[in-house]
Amino acid sequence: MMTSTASLSPSPAGAGIFSTPTLASDPRHLLGLEGRTREDLLALLDAAAHERDHLRAGGPDRSDLAGCVVMLAFIEDSTRTRTSFDIAARRLGAQTIAFSASASSLNKGESLLDTARLFEAMGAQLLVVRHSVSGAAAYLAQRLPRMAVINAGDGMHEHPTQGLLDLLTLRDHWKGQFEGRRLVIVGDIAHSRVARSAIAGLTVLGAQVTVCGPETLIPADVEALGCWRATTLDEALEGADGVMALRLQRERMEKGLLPALGEYASRFGVTPARVRLMKPGAPVMHPGPVTRGVDLPCEVADGESSVVLEQVANGVAVRCAVLQRAWSAWKAVHR
Ligand code: CP
Repeated sequence: MMTSTASLSPSPAGAGIFSTPTLASDPRHLLGLEGRTREDLLALLDAAAHERDHLRAGGPDRSDLAGCVVMLAFIEDSTRTRTSFDIAARRLGAQTIAFSASASSLNKGESLLDTARLFEAMGAQLLVVRHSVSGAAAYLAQRLPRMAVINAGDGMHEHPTQGLLDLLTLRDHWKGQFEGRRLVIVGDIAHSRVARSAIAGLTVLGAQVTVCGPETLIPADVEALGCWRATTLDEALEGADGVMALRLQRERMEKGLLPALGEYASRFGVTPARVRLMKPGAPVMHPGPVTRGVDLPCEVADGESSVVLEQVANGVAVRCAVLQRAWSAWKAVHR
C-alpha cells in the first residue's frame, strides 16, 4: 500500500496497488471508477435509478440480500457513506455489522489485514471499507479470497460510490445527456478521492471537466486525466453545466499548501454571483461535509441551485445497486 499519493495521474507509481486487471474485472469488487467502460457505468446508473424509483415509491423492504453479512469497516470517519450503506444493506435484507476502529484491537497493534481476515473467518461475505491509505481496498481484495470488497473511500485515490451518486445526480439534471456537458470541480483537487472518481466517470461518459483551485492544490499532471485547468473560478464557471465544490482536506495536507481561509473563500467560494455565470438551472454540488462560508456560502448551500441533499438521497439508491451486484457476483463464485 502507498501511504499517500500527491498525484492524480492515471498511472501512479505502483498502479497495481490500486487495482489489477483481474480485480477490476471481478464484479464482486468495486475498487474504483477509473478504467470502467461506458456500458458498465450506465448499467450501474440504470440499476441505481431503478432502486431509487422503488425507494421513492415507498416500496417494501426486500430480501435480495438474505443470508448476506455486510461488514462496514470505516477506519476513517464518515457520516453519509457509512449510514447510507447501512440503510441500503438492511433494506435489501442483509445483516450489517458496524466495525468501529476506535473500540477494536487495531488499537492493540493488530493489522488491517489480520482484522479483515477475522471478518472473513466469521463468515461475512461483503466488506465495505474506508481507510486513510490509498490502495487499502485493493490491498484487501487481493488477499481475501472469500470476500467481496467495496471501496468506501481510500485515502486520496477513489470514492467510487460517491462518483456514481454524483453521476446519477448529474444525469437527472442533464436530462440523460453527458456528451457536450461541462462540470467545474473547484477546491482541493489534489487530495480529493471524490474528484478523482468524478473525473474518471464523467470523461468516460463524454462530459468535460474543468478544475480550478489554489495552484498548490491542483496536481501538476491533472490534464493527463482529460481535464482542463482554469485560472480563475469566474473563467471556469462561465457557461458551465454545473459545479462541484470540494472540502479543503486539511487532514491530508502538508503545511503551507493552503492560503488564508478568507482569501480562499473570496477566490474559490461558489458565491450567488458566480452561480449566475453558469447556464440557467445548472446544479451546485458538494459531496459533504460542507464547510459553510468557505466552500459554499449558506445562501448557495441552501439555495435553489443546491442539489446537495439530492446527492445524499441518491447515495442510498447507488449503494443498493452496488451491494446487489456484489452479492450476486459473490454467490456466483462461492455457492
Ligand atoms: N461524501 C462523503 O464521503 O461523506 P462522509 O465522509 O460523511 O461519508
